[in-house]
Amino acid sequence: MLKRTLTCGDLRPEYVEQIVTLNGWVNRRRDHGGLIFVDLRDRYGLTQVVFDPNSGEKLMSLARKLGLEDVIAVRGRVRRRPPDAINHEMTTGEVELLAIELEILNESHPQPFLVTDRATGLEDLRLKYRYLDLRTRELQRNIAIRHKTYQSVRNFYNERNFFEIETPFLMRSTPEGARDFLVPSRLSPGNFYALPQSPQQYKQILMISGFDRYFQIVRCFRDEDLRADRQPEFTQIDVEMSFVEEEDVIQSTEEMLRRVFREVGDIELETPFPRLQYEEAMRRFGSDKPDLRFDHEIHTLNEIASRSEFEVFRKAIAGGGIVAGICVPQASRISRKIIDELTELAKKWGAPGLAFTKVTPAGLEGGIARFLLTVKEEIIAEFKAHADDMLFFMADVPEKTYSALGNLRLEIAKRLELIPADIFKPVWITRFPLLEWSDEEGRLVAKHHPFTAAVPEEEHLLASDPAKVRARAYDIVINGHEIGGGSIRNHTVEMQNRMFDVLRISPETARNKFGFLLDALSYGAPPHGGIALGFDRLVMVLAGANNLREVIAFPKTTSGASLMDGCPTAVEEQQLNDLGLQITKKK
Ligand code: AMO
Ligand code: AMP
Repeated sequence: MLKRTLTCGDLRPEYVEQIVTLNGWVNRRRDHGGLIFVDLRDRYGLTQVVFDPNSGEKLMSLARKLGLEDVIAVRGRVRRRPPDAINHEMTTGEVELLAIELEILNESHPQPFLVTDRATGLEDLRLKYRYLDLRTRELQRNIAIRHKTYQSVRNFYNERNFFEIETPFLMRSTPEGARDFLVPSRLSPGNFYALPQSPQQYKQILMISGFDRYFQIVRCFRDEDLRADRQPEFTQIDVEMSFVEEEDVIQSTEEMLRRVFREVGDIELETPFPRLQYEEAMRRFGSDKPDLRFDHEIHTLNEIASRSEFEVFRKAIAGGGIVAGICVPQASRISRKIIDELTELAKKWGAPGLAFTKVTPAGLEGGIARFLLTVKEEIIAEFKAHADDMLFFMADVPEKTYSALGNLRLEIAKRLELIPADIFKPVWITRFPLLEWSDEEGRLVAKHHPFTAAVPEEEHLLASDPAKVRARAYDIVINGHEIGGGSIRNHTVEMQNRMFDVLRISPETARNKFGFLLDALSYGAPPHGGIALGFDRLVMVLAGANNLREVIAFPKTTSGASLMDGCPTAVEEQQLNDLGLQITKKK
């Protein structure tokens, strides 16, 4: 085999007249007045190779056989391109390789889509032929960004004395939020391992073992409903530290992110990152992962709205609800049809309705303007609204109103293209509620996870008014994506048991599920806390992608399938027998 002496991204004018060998894939082929031009591709770049009839018929007849994506080796002489043939788009565009010898290392079948144009294949087809999709410029770039991010993170923690420690993939099933993926045990039939939803308990135990700074870039598994930003297996940058408080974890995470954005994306993040308490984030942005790249914040209008003529508003307020709204620009672009669509969406988001009116030089016009006659100046002043702004209002209980308006804010920003590209707005969300009500379970459940500590000044409310207690938890959000979350933990058995009590996890259940952790906490557990960042989500933001599948080499579809190898699949009867399993229900 003709082995490469350089890559397809190397050639520059200083190589002119040298004899070199390249290996790569046929990216493009053009036949031109006897000459054959081939763009040869590897992951380093593209080089134009020229086959000239003067080099002999043997070479030409081989070159004529070349098809797209064939793998070849070419030995040739580097020459300068004529001035009118220089390609400034290509890093090797000033030169070309005049072929002397060609070896076809392997031929390719015709491709189901063009590697040079992803638009020629729908995503399902590209996922089936993922190896071809991964050859595209887009995915080669994303995978390179992922690699760089990996190295940057690892260097950061290594330089700061963190130990990288692996934790098991086969572990005990413990309730943590999502559903576990289970692995049946052959050696102990009827028993199961669970794949970790995160290494939460292990990393806490590592703190108890004295490894006071731990990190791991680790795969996690969650059997939950999937979305653009959720995969059943995904990667976390998992971190835990001893003898720390919120501030320490937040600061080291900021430093890490600053470094990664600088090294990987050449992006300067301003520190300190802004912080919002959960309650304020909900009130101003209707979301615990607010996108701060644009304004149009939510305003609560109870005082003004209670004096309006609009019955809906007055009723909502009298019933303990709120009236809130947002002000967006370019009302002239928001057609009746768009308003109808937004109203439908608002209902889907749980709002009873969507009221609107338009700001004109004369005041308010259309929609509910006729019900706002006495308060129109105040409303305009409250929003600092201008002519051609559109005001949207919702009235209901606070939680629903804020979250529906938060969704509306995002939806309109997308439709009107109000979100600037290429800017990065991190924000910490702090002071989450410790608990939230679960309709499904009919009890309070941990909002983050049951190991999270309560704010000490509010601990006394745990017995009387647990829903009011806030957590020592924090999330890092960038451009509206929840990139990570963590907390200070309960480090005494007493604190942890009190939490189980509030969660109505009985002492027996707690012992059964978490006994090992409770035992460990009783042997001198240091105060500790940590965070986990969604590595895939971080890379997605760095790569400017809008789906996790764009930054994972072998992702799953939203139905949890891998279209390339076709899993999940049925297994042999014998395999089930070995495990003592029987399938009782098939889809
Ligand atoms: P949490 O459950 O918030 O915390 O997860 C941390 C981060 O992981 C990312 N993430 C996901 N990414 C892709 N697909 C998923 N299905 C998925 N689920 C979560 C998110 C999220 O912010 N043990 C705690 C951390 C701690 O307390 O230290 C934990 O796992 O970006
Ligand atoms: P109605 O008087 O019921 O026809 O409502 C007038 C407008 O107010 C319609 O655009 C409704 O969608 C809207 N609306 C009704 N209820 C609410 C509500 N709770 N919050 C916001 N708008 C509402």
